[in-house]
Amino acid sequence: MNDILPGEVETWQFLETQARRIFQAYGFTEIRVPTVEKTELFCRSIGETTDIVEKEMYTFDDKSGNSLTLRPEGTAPVMRAFIQNKLYALDSVNKLYYLGPMYRYERPQKGRYRQFHQIGAEVLGVDDPKIDAQVLSMLSHYFQEVGIRDIELQINSLGCPECRPGYRKALVDYLQQRLSSLCEDCKRRYETNPLRALDCKSQGCKEATQNAPSVLDSLCASCEDHFSRVRGHLDDIAVAYTVNPRMARGLDYYTKTTFEMVTNSLGAQNAVAAGGRYDGLIEDLGGPSLPGIGFAMGVERLALMLGEKSIEAPRPDLFIAALGQEAGRRGFVLLSALHRRGLHAEMDYEGKSLKAQLRRAGKQKARFVLILGEEELARQAGQLKDMDAGSQEEVPLGAVEELMMEKCRPADREAG
Ligand code: HAM
Repeated sequence: MNDILPGEVETWQFLETQARRIFQAYGFTEIRVPTVEKTELFCRSIGETTDIVEKEMYTFDDKSGNSLTLRPEGTAPVMRAFIQNKLYALDSVNKLYYLGPMYRYERPQKGRYRQFHQIGAEVLGVDDPKIDAQVLSMLSHYFQEVGIRDIELQINSLGCPECRPGYRKALVDYLQQRLSSLCEDCKRRYETNPLRALDCKSQGCKEATQNAPSVLDSLCASCEDHFSRVRGHLDDIAVAYTVNPRMARGLDYYTKTTFEMVTNSLGAQNAVAAGGRYDGLIEDLGGPSLPGIGFAMGVERLALMLGEKSIEAPRPDLFIAALGQEAGRRGFVLLSALHRRGLHAEMDYEGKSLKAQLRRAGKQKARFVLILGEEELARQAGQLKDMDAGSQEEVPLGAVEELMMEKCRPADREAG
C-alpha cells in the first residue's frame, strides 16, 4: 500500500480529471460506493473459485459477527448500489463511473499492489453491440488523450450460459490429457475454472494450451452475431483492436465481449485496463434481468506508463519577495487578495534574505516575482520580474493586483 506524495499526485489528478472530462462527454455520471461490503457480495459475483475470492480478499468479522470485505474491485459494489437504490426505475440506461481504492492481498511487485486504485465505468441496461463499441471507443479515447500510446486493445468473446458450458467441457477434456504440464494452480482448478490455463503465464501452461480449442469456435449463433457486430462498429468508428481468443479474465461474471488494454512496458503486469459484458450479474445479485458492460483501469499502472511525462506541480503565478515587517504586511494583503481571485501566489514567512527568497521563487518556478523592499515601499511601488522573459519593471503597488489578473487570468489557465 503506497502513499501518493506531492510530486506524484499531480499525475494522479491529471488522470482523474481527464477521466471525468472524457466520461462526461459519453454521458457517464459518477457514483460513490463504500469501500467495504458484505463478503457474500464478492463471492457471488466474482466467483468462489477465482484467485480473488480464494486468496486475495481482506475479509474480517465486524463486532456483530458480519463477514465484511474490503472491496477487491468496483463492479460488484456498483451493482449492489444499482439494485438497492432501484436506479433502473429512474432510467432504462444507466452510465456510471467510479474511482477509488481497491484491495487485494496479492504478492506486491511493480504495478501490483495490495491497495491500488481503479477508474471504472459501467453501462447498465443495454444489449446493443453499439454500446460495447462505445465503451471501447471511450477507453481508447482516454488513452489517447492522456498520451499513452504503447498500448493494444485486445478483445474476445467468452460466450453465454448457452454456449460456454460446451466450450468448458471441450477445454476440460483437452486439459485432462495434459494435466502433468500445467502449473499447480491450473491443475487444481482445471475443472472449476479451466479458462484460466489459457492466459496463465507459466511456461508449462502456455505449451500445454498451444493447440487448445478456441472459445470463438464454440460461440452460439447469438454470441457470434453479437461479437461480429461489435467488431463491425469498432471498424466503422476506427477503433483499433486485435482479437485474442486466449483472453480468459480472472472474474467469473463475464459473458460475451471481454477486453483488455495491454502493454509490454510493465513487465508481468501487462493489463492496464480490463473489462467486459456481464449480462447475468444484476439478476444473479437479486436485481432485474438487465445486461451490463464496463471496465476498470489501474491508476498506478497508468501513472507508471506516463512515467517521466508525469505532470509537474503547478507553477505559482507570483512570488512576493518582501523585505522587512511593513513590506511583509503589505505583501500579505496583496497575497490574500490574489488568492481570493484565484491566482496562485506565494510568499516567504521566515524573514529570509532577498537572495534566499529569490532562490525559493526559482525553485517553485514562479512566473513572476514582486520585490517589495523598503525603498520601493516608500515610493508605493514594487519591482515586478517576469521570470520567463527575464525582464523587470517598477509598478505602482496599487496596480499589481489588476496587472497580475491581466497577465495570469485563472480562466486562461483552466482553458489551457
Ligand atoms: P480486473 O482485471 O481485476 O477487473 O482489474 C482491472 C484493472 O485493475 C487491471 O487491468 C489493473 O490495471 C488493475 N489492477 C488489478 N489488480 C491490481 C493490483 N493488485 N495492483 C494494481 N493494479 C491492479 C476488474 O476489477 C473488473 N471489475 C473490471 C470491470 C468493470 N469489468 C466490468 N466492469
